[in-house]
Amino acid sequence: MQTLDHLFENNKAWAGRIRQQEPDFFVKLSRQQSPGYLWIGCADSRVPANEIVGLSPGELFVHRNVANIVVHTDLNCLSVMQFAVDILKVRHIIVCGHYGCSGVGAALRRDRLGLSDNWLRHVQDVRQKHEVAVARARSDSEAANRLCELNVIEQVANVCQTTIALDAWERGQELVVHGWIYGLKDGLLRDLNVTVASVEGTVPAYQAAIAALD
Ligand code: CO
Repeated sequence: MQTLDHLFENNKAWAGRIRQQEPDFFVKLSRQQSPGYLWIGCADSRVPANEIVGLSPGELFVHRNVANIVVHTDLNCLSVMQFAVDILKVRHIIVCGHYGCSGVGAALRRDRLGLSDNWLRHVQDVRQKHEVAVARARSDSEAANRLCELNVIEQVANVCQTTIALDAWERGQELVVHGWIYGLKDGLLRDLNVTVASVEGTVPAYQAAIAALD
């Protein structure tokens, strides 16, 4: 079977349901989007951004990659951030990791997966930076959970250090960066309390969040 008819059927049913609730939903949405949030999350199929936070199309701007990494030279992620902050004027950037992340697990075990090893090298850097905290874990799963949390906190710091966030704060634009983690087992989000709303707030929030993990 080369066509994915069932997905087109699902789509028709989905669009129909929405039109039933709000007949001009798509017409209104086609004119403009005004999301309040940018979500930077893992590409994992079990972590669907909009659904987790109960937001409709138009309300959440989304960038996802393996292990929710924000790399200083990743033009893809940076372009999404710049468009979201400068053009759409989102007020919040949410970096959301998740427990049970395969990418983080592979980085922890130093598995060889292929090309993505090079991408996950960034998570290995996080592990190396926090070697003591990761080694303190009493089990492999606790170490993996800890690295998932540390990875989110580090990526929040990376967001705060981009020219996009720095320029927004410099010109007095309201922008708050958050670090959250999602539990696959209970479907719940947990705030890692690394909330940053200014340049000066970055280091204290980062240090407090790291200290709170101990
Ligand atoms: Co993941």
